[in-house]
Amino acid sequence: MSPHLILVVTALVMAPLLRGSNGQLNATFYAGTCPNVSSIVQGVIQTALQSDTRIAASLVRLHFHDCFVDGCDGSLLLDNSSSIVTEKDAPPNVNSTRGFDVVDNIKTALESACPGVVSCADILAIAAEASVSLSGGPTWNVLLGRRDSTTANNAGASSALPAPSEGLTNITAKFAAVGLNITDVVALSGAHTFGRAQCRTFITRLYNFSGTGNPDPSVNTTYLATLQQTCPQSGNLSTLANLDPTTPDTFDSNYFTNLQSNTGLLQSDQELFSTSGSATIAIVNSFASNQTTFFQSFAASMINMGNISPLTGTSGEIRTDCKKVNGS
Ligand code: HEM
Ligand SMILES: *[C@@H]1O[C@H](CO)[C@@H](O)[C@H](O)[C@H]1NC(C)=O
Ligand SMILES: *[C@@H]1O[C@H](CO)[C@@H](O)[C@H](O)[C@H]1NC(C)=O
Ligand SMILES: *[C@@H]1O[C@H](CO)[C@@H](O)[C@H](O)[C@H]1NC(C)=O
Ligand SMILES: *[C@@H]1O[C@H](CO)[C@@H](O)[C@H](O)[C@H]1NC(C)=O
Ligand SMILES: *[C@@H]1O[C@H](CO)[C@@H](O)[C@H](O)[C@H]1NC(C)=O
Ligand SMILES: *[C@@H]1O[C@H](CO)[C@@H](O)[C@H](O)[C@H]1NC(C)=O
Ligand SMILES: *[C@@H]1O[C@H](CO)[C@@H](O)[C@H](O)[C@H]1NC(C)=O
Ligand SMILES: *[C@@H]1O[C@H](CO)[C@@H](O)[C@H](O)[C@H]1NC(C)=O
Ligand SMILES: *[C@@H]1O[C@H](CO)[C@@H](O)[C@H](O)[C@H]1NC(C)=O
Ligand SMILES: *[C@@H]1O[C@H](CO)[C@@H](O)[C@H](O)[C@H]1NC(C)=O
Repeated sequence: MSPHLILVVTALVMAPLLRGSNGQLNATFYAGTCPNVSSIVQGVIQTALQSDTRIAASLVRLHFHDCFVDGCDGSLLLDNSSSIVTEKDAPPNVNSTRGFDVVDNIKTALESACPGVVSCADILAIAAEASVSLSGGPTWNVLLGRRDSTTANNAGASSALPAPSEGLTNITAKFAAVGLNITDVVALSGAHTFGRAQCRTFITRLYNFSGTGNPDPSVNTTYLATLQQTCPQSGNLSTLANLDPTTPDTFDSNYFTNLQSNTGLLQSDQELFSTSGSATIAIVNSFASNQTTFFQSFAASMINMGNISPLTGTSGEIRTDCKKVNGS
């Protein structure tokens, strides 16, 4: 056979194999090219946790805010440039998402160990799993092989990400729009078992709920008094409160037992339990009564979320710097 024919035959034989794996993530994507990727990511996060107990929660949230906007493609990480309007300025993210410096540290460590190999989108997926497991939560096999976008979608970040006051019906619709169901809504909301929220995200519940001039009747009265002290009327709206008042930095099922005691922090949290007739109530109760059930569902739902329209194959690129499109 001529070299030319060999190439043609090789291409014909390989094409279906490539197509068969196209669009499919798998757990061993870096086995040959960056076998230590998970332990490298975990090491950087362990170091960061020593000076910032909140960083694990912040990193999990980044994966969520990446995946809901044009899929898990690292678009959230891009800064403004001549061709990019950053998603970091969109209302759900501005002065709120954090941990970008730790993502950069992870990228630097990976570029040193295996240059040009691990995508920023995959870094967010691996960092989310490492953050949960380092905080006492479940472990799971992270599916990998995502590539990075060369575009960002600032308007998409404003419209696709749920807001805490928009109501369970609208939030469920936003999850459904990316292929996630009501079990995913409840399980993934369980990420609010750690991390913080600013007073601005729940203060209407404390003083003037839905324009009634009164607090949200679904807030536990003892908890209400505590929150009113943390967030006084006309106080500093950037003051932080724990999303889980029981075990603020531990990944456990207390988020769900809190909801049963009416001590969910955000309106979107408490509604999962307090919306009468909602299918979410039974799911909250099952996660509250059995942490193993929650952990298994959470892991499954994180995999579902991580599968939202990734770029694979030769789409997109592997960014060298998570903040910038290559060559820009
Ligand atoms: C169900 C709809 C959701 C709404 C309305 C929502 C809303 C919020 C809000 C308002 C904050 C506080 C932000 C701030 O004050 O700066 C927050 C924090 C957080 N969210 Fe969500 N969220 C939702 C779902 C999720 C999901 C699916 C995840 C991850 C799987 C997640 C993970 C987190 C974490 C870990 C924090 C704390 C971050 C930190 O301390 O830096 N959230 N969320
Ligand atoms: C994982 O996916 C990549 C790219 O699609 C592929 O090359 C590799 O063979 C897959 N590995 C397994 C075990 O399926
Ligand atoms: C990979 O990690 C293992 C243990 O986690 C370590 O023994 C090995 O030296 C690491 N290899 C590289 C190339 O860093
Ligand atoms: C990014 O660019 C947008 C639009 O050009 C601008 O409104 C915004 O202030 C910029 N943000 C930052 C952080 O520079
Ligand atoms: C974000 O925080 C900075 C510094 O506190 C403030 O100047 C800016 O107005 C805030 N941006 C928004 C959109 O709230
Ligand atoms: C729910 O979404 C609809 C449109 O999709 C919007 O008109 C409505 O204002 C939203 N509700 C809340 C409470 O934000
Ligand atoms: C949601 O989807 C999962 C599979 O990802 C399935 O096991 C679960 O039963 C579904 N939940 C509902 C309420 O349909
Ligand atoms: C409560 O909010 C509504 C609008 O949302 C406003 O009209 C009303 O004046 C507020 N009431 C109090 C007591 O602040
Ligand atoms: C408001 O609270 C935030 C978070 O604690 C703090 O960083 C900021 O300096 C405070 N602002 C003022 C004006 O006190
Ligand atoms: C309010 O919260 C306290 C402590 O968190 C709990 O003991 C009590 O049962 C709760 N009350 C209601 C009505 O849920
Ligand atoms: C909790 O759930 C797990 C998995 O669903 C199950 O195997 C276990 O038996 C349950 N434990 C109890 C005490 O019901």
